Amino acid sequence: MCLRVKNHVILDCEHTGKEVEILVDGKVIKAFEGEPVLAALLNAGIKINRYTVKRKEPRGLFCGIGQCTDCAMVVDGKANVRTCITPVQAGMVIQTQDGLSKGE
Ligand code: FES
Repeated sequence: MCLRVKNHVILDCEHTGKEVEILVDGKVIKAFEGEPVLAALLNAGIKINRYTVKRKEPRGLFCGIGQCTDCAMVVDGKANVRTCITPVQAGMVIQTQDGLSKGE
């Protein structure tokens, strides 16, 4: 998976997924099926994925490979989903995560 890099010297980053819509904090955004949720969010200008528990500080893309959890969000009611390694599916409902959200 690539973060919408179109030409890369090593990776094959051609997007073949069809364009779909996902809902992010109540707003509809366009995404490509199969691309990382985080790629669609960044393309839509959304850079904050969660807020920390104690200080309520914003967090977003850091490692991009599923190791740090800074991109965790509530996806389809499930909290702590790492959006950098979660593929887009049509109709996903995504929410910014506040602290240790338990989802729904
Ligand atoms: S950015 Fe580190 S796990 Fe997603």
